[in-house]
Amino acid sequence: MKGKSDLTARSFVLNTGAKIPAIGLGTWQSGGQLCIEAVKTALSVGYRHIDCAHLYGNEMQVGDALAEAFKGSSLKREDLFLTSKLYCSMNSINKIENYVKVSLKNLRVSYLDLYLMHWPDNSAFGDATDPPLKLGSEYKQFLSRLKKSWKAMEGLVDLGLVRAIGVSNFNIQQIKELLKFAKIVPAVNQVELHPFWRQDELVKFCQLKGIHVSAHTPLGVPSSSPAPSDSGSGGEDEPGTPRICFRRSRSVHGPMLKLSVVAEIANRHKKTPEQVILRWGLQRGTSVLPCSLNAERIRKNIDIFNWSLSDSEWNRLNQIQPQVCLFGNGLTNYLSDSSSLPGSVPLQSVREMEDDVESNV
Ligand SMILES: NC(=O)c1ccc[n+]([C@@H]2O[C@H](COP(=O)([O-])OP(=O)(O)OC[C@H]3O[C@@H](n4cnc5c(N)ncnc54)[C@H](OP(=O)(O)O)[C@@H]3O)[C@@H](O)[C@H]2O)c1
Repeated sequence: MKGKSDLTARSFVLNTGAKIPAIGLGTWQSGGQLCIEAVKTALSVGYRHIDCAHLYGNEMQVGDALAEAFKGSSLKREDLFLTSKLYCSMNSINKIENYVKVSLKNLRVSYLDLYLMHWPDNSAFGDATDPPLKLGSEYKQFLSRLKKSWKAMEGLVDLGLVRAIGVSNFNIQQIKELLKFAKIVPAVNQVELHPFWRQDELVKFCQLKGIHVSAHTPLGVPSSSPAPSDSGSGGEDEPGTPRICFRRSRSVHGPMLKLSVVAEIANRHKKTPEQVILRWGLQRGTSVLPCSLNAERIRKNIDIFNWSLSDSEWNRLNQIQPQVCLFGNGLTNYLSDSSSLPGSVPLQSVREMEDDVESNV
């Protein structure tokens, strides 16, 4: 894994030869005019990467913001890096081309820089962090669908609809399976990463295979509760496409950001805890995708260049314990009453752990 080797990087080179900006604006739980303003603000302060997904239900608003930005400035499509994601579903492989076309139409662009398989499962919220729990024939079916889906994803590159393809929330075992038949090696694996959930082994494995790793939920902020589909955010859908909309909650904040080690480093650099966490992400060679709807925070989050963490600061952030997956299983817990997956810590335990974490660092 990279440490202090890439201190000046503002972008990373993908295995396609293209560059992915080191920071992108996340757009999950964003919608309506707030989403339009957030994207416009981000572009005006220097973000060149917008992380989208059909599932977020707001690609039309992102498209509105892009159109306004193109009209009102010298910014061009080719200056930007746009990511979107196949919302699920390995059950509808013959529609993958349609799905990307829906995203392109909503975003009002003719190609994507990166298209990711959103989850390694045939549901929107799959086995995010653990090896596939499926056994026997069910696992074989999963692999067969994965193979067919990836072939369809590869076809999108041939058609010129997307410049690169990748995966999201894939673990080592799932990537190994994919690499057995992939003609195109994924350019990116986008996974939950922050000092509370470092996934060192996964990051190292991907980097060794030439797969760039992007950090989603880089501030470690737990997801808010799913809300009824009331955002009215629009966008074109295939009939019967499941859409999940979320009521945004800004009151919940990651306990990681309150850790004394983070605060101490932030004070030393005269930076915020969020900037320290994002800078840590860059220094390990991962791009970071923080989401904010607040103009000031959008500005602050990109102020992570021209300064760096020292070796000892870097090492301290790499020692934070316990390691807790905030996103995958937390969301799984919200969506069903199923008990936790092996090796996971349920979301509700995170806040309870806060005191323990303080004393462990
Ligand atoms: N591939 C996947 O499965 C997947 C899963 C999750 C997320 N993602 C991507 O990753 C992006 C980021 O993840 P996320 O949105 O879940 O979590 P996040 O970026 O870690 O945190 C977002 C939260 O932090 C707050 N925040 C942002 N900057 C802040 C700052 N400087 N100070 C204080 N609070 C700040 C935001 O509130 P305010 O708006 O009030 O600033 C928001 O509530 C998503 O938007 C999405 O694009 C992908």
